[in-house]
Amino acid sequence: MTTDNAIEVQDLSKRFKLYHEKATSLKERVVNFRKNAYEDFWALKDVSFEVKEGETVGIVGRNGSGKSTLLKCVTGILRPTSGQVVLRGQLSSLLELGAGFQSELSGRDNVFLNASLLGIPVKEVARRFDDIVAFAELEHFIDNQVKFYSSGMYVRLGFAIAINMEPDILVVDEVLAVGDESFQAKCLEKIREMQRGGVTILFVSHSADLTKKVCSRAVVLQHGEMLFMGSAKDAIDSYHDNIVEQDQLAPGTPRTLHPDQPIGVESASILSTDGRSTDEVDSGGPAGITIAYRANRDVDDAVFMVEIQNDSGAIVFASNTDALEFYQPITEGTGEMVFTLESLPLSSGLYMVNAAIRKRGTDHDYDRFDRAAAFKVSAPRSSLGIIATPVHVQLESLDRTTRDRAV
Ligand SMILES: Nc1ncnc2c1ncn2[C@@H]1O[C@H](COP(=O)(O)OP(=O)(O)OP(=O)(O)O)[C@@H](O)[C@H]1O
Ligand SMILES: [Mg+2]
Repeated sequence: MTTDNAIEVQDLSKRFKLYHEKATSLKERVVNFRKNAYEDFWALKDVSFEVKEGETVGIVGRNGSGKSTLLKCVTGILRPTSGQVVLRGQLSSLLELGAGFQSELSGRDNVFLNASLLGIPVKEVARRFDDIVAFAELEHFIDNQVKFYSSGMYVRLGFAIAINMEPDILVVDEVLAVGDESFQAKCLEKIREMQRGGVTILFVSHSADLTKKVCSRAVVLQHGEMLFMGSAKDAIDSYHDNIVEQDQLAPGTPRTLHPDQPIGVESASILSTDGRSTDEVDSGGPAGITIAYRANRDVDDAVFMVEIQNDSGAIVFASNTDALEFYQPITEGTGEMVFTLESLPLSSGLYMVNAAIRKRGTDHDYDRFDRAAAFKVSAPRSSLGIIATPVHVQLESLDRTTRDRAV
């Protein structure tokens, strides 16, 4: 291990055995005797990277790409099938919700238990106890059994323990999303403080935004393999390209509609100015969103709804045929509802389209298809934030303006 690395992941692979349905009869069991009742599944394949001391590295990838498995191998909860992880320094981690808590014990007992598992002496824990409880904002609940905690309380306690153990290496798996916004901000502030203090951090989050804010570099995982490692920005770009590409391979895979369902969304797509399906849109230009539907019978009260969601999960645009006062009965068969947007002034990034068909005047969705399509927006670098608009800047000297005004 070179001296300035805090974490080295070397050719790491992890295999799980996926067991098939159990044999049901004695005969089947006899017939299948010695046959493989399982299949090998590689959750990680030859993953290698290094994290320098004091560096924060993010891990991004779609659901099931192996992020949590990787963190569990780093923390030693899982034993790799091959390869190894080398760590330098005291590690503290916050993995999946409630992992490591004993539900029958109180918050107080869990703090001590958790710390003792990390090898921290009782005296030390007692010294840090008040800080932990204060950070978690659980003064009134610390003697309750944790099984009565809400998911937010779990995460607050877990995070408070993890950061107050004064670790050299902190491993965090997708937990900040659970707390409320003010707690998230507090955690972020604490993470920044730890970064300034030289703590090495491995950070999993589904938020591209957060990953870019917190990490200097990031790893992209796809089906257990390392697709990319580079600056956090380049990693997120590569991850987004990859999502768009994969979704394109199965463009809004038309869904099958249940015969009892009156009407449903089959797919959604983005249209460019020439009316062709696209996955890249220029900011500020026009765009179209098409919802392809299938109606099993005539429906005269269908409201078509579209939403555009950014990668932090915020709905940045929504519209529906009711709001547009467009009331047209739908006849049995297939068709498309096309929304034309005169301009889409969004900042650069990846966006998802949600499509739904609602029964007019009710809260009942005939059908809803979230993340039915994905597209990328490219905007001038001058616009940051949610929307993009042309910006100009100029400098005005106060002296001159007052003089000009006086003239
Ligand atoms: N103990 C296990 N036994 C069998 N398969 C497992 C086990 N743990 C994880 N897997 C599988 O390994 C793959 C990777 O899972 P993992 O939890 O690492 O994904 P992830 O990237 O963390 O996903 P998410 O974004 O949903 O948290 C998944 O297909 C999952 O089903
Ligand atoms: Mg996970």
